[in-house]
Amino acid sequence: MATVEQPVQQNGSEKEQEQQQQAGRHQEVGHKSLLQSDALYQYILETSVYPREPDSMRELREITAKHPWNIMTTSADEGQFLSLLLKLIGAKNTMEIGVYTGYSLLATALALPDDGKIIAMDINRENYELGLPVIQKAGVAHKIDFREGPALPVLDQMLEDPKNHGSFDFVFVDADKDNYINYHKRLIDLVKVGGVIGYDNTLWNGSVAAPPDTPMRKYVRYYRDFVLELNKALAADPRIEICQLPVGDGITICRRVS
Ligand SMILES: C[S@@+](CC[C@H](N)C(=O)[O-])C[C@H]1O[C@@H](n2cnc3c(N)ncnc32)[C@H](O)[C@@H]1O
Repeated sequence: MATVEQPVQQNGSEKEQEQQQQAGRHQEVGHKSLLQSDALYQYILETSVYPREPDSMRELREITAKHPWNIMTTSADEGQFLSLLLKLIGAKNTMEIGVYTGYSLLATALALPDDGKIIAMDINRENYELGLPVIQKAGVAHKIDFREGPALPVLDQMLEDPKNHGSFDFVFVDADKDNYINYHKRLIDLVKVGGVIGYDNTLWNGSVAAPPDTPMRKYVRYYRDFVLELNKALAADPRIEICQLPVGDGITICRRVS
């Protein structure tokens, strides 16, 4: 987690004003970045992310910002990271668990070649349909196979067909944190050796490093133990190489090695 000290002494009201402005901005961008300085995060967005963000992704981000659950969306910097990662590994056959309005899905669809595929799973079709017109307008909807419903049974069904084993280049997991371990048990067989699984929210609001008696929102506390368990399991799993990055709410990139 990066921290930046204030370079100059400020009097109380100036400092308060700045804090209020920063809080405003925090809400304005609806971000869940773990960077301690909003100004630094804003710098990253304004310098490297927004100027490069495809128009369709900006449109979807703006639509999503008006939705009451907008905190769930993948941040623009994480979307940019996923896009670059997919291109670096030359991904073609992919999966996404947890779509919401489709920001990371659109980032993926745009990054894949024209014959690329994404099996996208979510229990909520309504939110997916909010973003779908933007995805269609961007000309990438043909890459998406949306499956409405819980992801675990879909994975179990896929595992029944040996053709699916080791067939995925990339999987992005951004859904129910209490099932990540269950997803991992299945995905490790579905992703190819050399393929990548990205688990989102592995720093879980920074709560993973907080003392257990720290006051936390109920849902943060509830999922914290699952995220802690996942992080330990991934770190101890010899079938993968991992890298945990403080992008968004923390993303752990796992490359299958055996
Ligand atoms: C954090 S949001 C996903 C954000 C999305 N990746 C984006 O870029 O906006 C989590 C999503 O997981 C979905 N979800 C929750 N439990 C699920 C399950 N068991 N199977 C599939 N999706 C699930 C929720 O409906 C929600 O849309």
